[in-house]
Amino acid sequence: MIDGLLPILYLIASVTFILGIKMLGSPKTARAGNLVAAAGMVIAIVGTIVLYRHNGQPLHNVTWILAALAVGTAIGWVMAMRVKMTAMPQMVSFFNGMGGACAALISILEYKSAIAGGLAASTGHSLATMAGLIIGAVSFSGSIIAYLKLEDRLGDIRFGAQQLVNNGLLVATIAVGAAMVIGSMSGISTLYILTAMALVFGILFVLPIGGADMPVVISLLNSFTGVAAACGGFLYDNMVMLIGGILVGSAGTILTVVMCNSMNRSLLNVLIGNFGGAASGASSGGSSAGSYREVSAADAAVMMAYAKQVVIVPGYGLAVAQAQHVCHQLEHELEGKGVTVKYAIHPVAGRMPGHMNVLLAEADVAYDKLVEMEEINSEFPTTDVVLVVGANDVVNPAAKTDPTSPIYGMPILDAELSRQVIIMKRSMKAGYAGIDNELFYRPNAAMLFGDAKASLTALVNEVKQV
Ligand code: TAP
Repeated sequence: MIDGLLPILYLIASVTFILGIKMLGSPKTARAGNLVAAAGMVIAIVGTIVLYRHNGQPLHNVTWILAALAVGTAIGWVMAMRVKMTAMPQMVSFFNGMGGACAALISILEYKSAIAGGLAASTGHSLATMAGLIIGAVSFSGSIIAYLKLEDRLGDIRFGAQQLVNNGLLVATIAVGAAMVIGSMSGISTLYILTAMALVFGILFVLPIGGADMPVVISLLNSFTGVAAACGGFLYDNMVMLIGGILVGSAGTILTVVMCNSMNRSLLNVLIGNFGGAASGASSGGSSAGSYREVSAADAAVMMAYAKQVVIVPGYGLAVAQAQHVCHQLEHELEGKGVTVKYAIHPVAGRMPGHMNVLLAEADVAYDKLVEMEEINSEFPTTDVVLVVGANDVVNPAAKTDPTSPIYGMPILDAELSRQVIIMKRSMKAGYAGIDNELFYRPNAAMLFGDAKASLTALVNEVKQV
């Protein structure tokens, strides 16, 4: 009876993981989805501790396991409670690195115990051990470098022949791993050398990538950790670990591809570091391409208060200014005057997946007001006013009109098709891609300069007086 219970608990946990991921697909259900998957993880862990049997023997070292769980839970809890929304990507990176380290440690321990037991491992077992070790170690060191970059403790480091060194090290690491699988190389020292090679490769691989490209890299490293964990599941013949790992691996890969497509860049282009690297220096950017018009908060308020529909386009600047609450207040004031207000959500607005959804949800903006790009684009021609709040690249028409532009082909929000566009930012400087925005110079566009929070506060006050 007890023997059959654990696989059933694993099955339940696996279903909760799948359900949880599905629920993460909508802001309405995301919070609950996270809890459902976490509950599944608790079931899997408790079930393993209580019910697992190896040759009829229960788990050893339960005290150590419980102590590690307690320490890990406490650290995770404190970090998650304290983290600022803008620091979320680095926390994800840090936790992802820990997952990679776990997978690598599992492989090291498995290899050691196979040697100590004098057992000849099957090729499949050796392959999973070496793959888990290499991928887990790369994910660990790469994620820590990504974490340090996002914390601004490390800049982009590039040196001559870097790609050559990286590719050489990658080939050498895979070669040593393969030699250990087929048995032409073996021993603990070789294992440690292989671990060191993978760790160094992880560092070198992430070092040159532009800091602003880190979300894509983190997503890729996340998928690596998933694959490494799946290898652990294979080693332990543990179904829930295998399924969990595969889910993380495939979800991370899909997210990486979606992000690259939304920026119209190939993964190779991100990894070699093209405009993401230029972005840090782009703050000085923005060549002037003509004359632009400025608008006062009072005039902008009148336009918006008499509009039928206003579409707000949030971007990275909204997050930097932490202006989401006052933005929600503006929406409230406008709706009080009978204006329909919607938010246009571009898939890569901001600096991490779902950045705008999370920010606006924090300010209690209703989910049904957040309209995805594909849907809202058809509404711009009938929209009276578009208010762009700290967004730039995601409304740059060059993506459609200028084949020489680095963002050419990137799907954008067609804000320029509306009757009037008001752009809130602090200057004429470029955004992430480091390029000028032709929208700012169009006859139906006007700039409202200033910090987004201050400008929105001024707008709210002016709208109240209209
Ligand atoms: P950006 O193109 O980076 O533009 C943001 C604008 O906000 C800047 O031009 C800046 O202009 C303004 N800004 C900054 N601080 C501000 C403040 N305190 N108040 C008002 N404005 C402020 O952002 P976006 O339109 O959201 O596009 C996102 C970019 O990031 C895309 O190029 C995308 O490819 C890239 N990216 C996104 C992701 C994900 S997953 N979201 C991942 C990697 C890369 P001023 O300096 O003049 O104020």
